[in-house]
This record gives sequence, C-alpha cells and structure tokens, in this order.
Amino acid sequence: MTFPLEDEFGDIVQKARDRRPWSQAELARETGLSSSVVMRIENCDLIPDAVDIAKIAKALDLHEPSLQAIANGKWEPEKQPELCGDFEVVCLQVFMGSYPVKCYLLICKKTRMTAIVDTGGNPKEIINAAKQWGVTPGMVLLTHTHPDHAGGLNVLLKQWPLKVYVGKKEPRSGMSGSPHYVEDGEKIQLGALTVEAIQTPGHTPGGVSYRLGSVVFSGDCIFAGSMGRANTSWSALYQSVSQRLLAFPNETRLLPGHGPATTVGEEKLHNPFFFYKK
Ligand SMILES: [Fe+2]
Repeated sequence: MTFPLEDEFGDIVQKARDRRPWSQAELARETGLSSSVVMRIENCDLIPDAVDIAKIAKALDLHEPSLQAIANGKWEPEKQPELCGDFEVVCLQVFMGSYPVKCYLLICKKTRMTAIVDTGGNPKEIINAAKQWGVTPGMVLLTHTHPDHAGGLNVLLKQWPLKVYVGKKEPRSGMSGSPHYVEDGEKIQLGALTVEAIQTPGHTPGGVSYRLGSVVFSGDCIFAGSMGRANTSWSALYQSVSQRLLAFPNETRLLPGHGPATTVGEEKLHNPFFFYKK
C-alpha cells in the first residue's frame, strides 16, 4: 500500500464492537467464531477468511465489501492533487515516541499569517517547518487535547505568542495560558482566510474540526477507512462524522490526525462504518 491506513482490520472490528457494546465473548457468540479467534483478530494477529469477515460485518453492521477490501489491503484513498488557492497546507508527521501524528501549518498566502493545527507531543518539527517556510505562527487550532495532539503546546508558547483555540468541554490539564473557547460555527480570521470551527465531539468531549473552503482538519474523528476511538460517546462520534463531516460535498478533503488524507466521497464509498447507499 502506498499510504498505510491508520486502522487495521482488527482495530475496525474492535471499534465497531464498542458500538453495541459487546465483549469479545459476545461478538464470538454472535458470529459463531471462538473467543480466541476474536481476540487474535482484534490484536491484529489474524485476518479471517472472507466467510468469517462477512459474519463479522453482518453482526457489527459494517459495510461488507468495504470491510473485505480493507481486510485484504485492497483499498486506500486516492492520492489527492496539490491544493491550490489562497492558502498552503503543510502536513507534518510529528512523533510521540514511535507513534506518528499529523499536524499542519495553515498559511494564508496573501498575508503569510499562519495557524498550527495540533501541536503533536514533540513540536520540534513544527518549529523547523515554520522556519523553513519563513512564517511566524500566530495561533494554534486544537482539534482536541490528547497529549499526542496538544502535548507540545507549552513548548510552542515559549517560541511564539500564540492565540490558542480549543473546544470548551475539552480537558485542559497541564496546558498553560488562557485559551479561547471556540463556539460551533465560529469564524476564525487568519489573515485573508476565514476558518470555521465545527464541534465534533465523541472521540473527546469537546472535539473540534476546522474547515477552510473544501479542506477540513478533522482530528481523530474519522480516519481513512475507519473512525476514531469513541472515548466519550460512540453515538456522538458517529453523529459528528455522519451528520457533520460527511455532510460536506464529496470533493471535501479530510485531513485527519493520523493516517492518510481522504475525501468525503471516498469515505462514503469505502468506509465500512459510513458507507452510504446511493
Ligand atoms: Fe486523540
């Protein structure tokens, strides 16, 4: 695969099981598989055959063809062309230990004003990238405050005087300064650009996505071919994705916190959680 997906087959099964919520033993009973097979699947040690994948899809209400394709490494989102328009998006892979997180620099081409979308845990890459691009970031847009997404904030605040935007219900332990709490639908001015905040809770209580034209920074709500972990509420996260993010036009680009970029149209056709019947 050119772009390894964030979630493997076993992760998808585990997240879908959370929806019921069932134990592994209950999923085993519903599918006729043994508990040890379910455990191996969810540990990503085993990809079952097509018949068993079909049983899992049926039990967990996942779109079977999409699930079969992902299980067999036969789907990845199409590579998107370079963005063109009045802004630049610089995608940065920032590591928390060995775990990669996607952070972004969003640059207004006209004014060079710049936002950092999520800080990562160790933001050295962000500081280097800003120098490379010759920009001085003025704000941080946090999708949520998990340490792998916001843990580098205090380091960045020592580097630049940044205005920090975050959802009001997000936990803020260890964060210094007084952030600005974003409202749903709030318009944030970045030079000549207008960024819209969209509340997308479920992964965390106060998760926020940020939209600029046909680009959405979606944090850990949806990944190519999967969804985020519903730490706060499965139904809230499902609604955030299906009612809000996937309500945008098909060509809308989704830039997630992990894994490859995708589009609304790709996810409606290939995501086993969100497949839309035509
Ligand atoms: Fe997260």
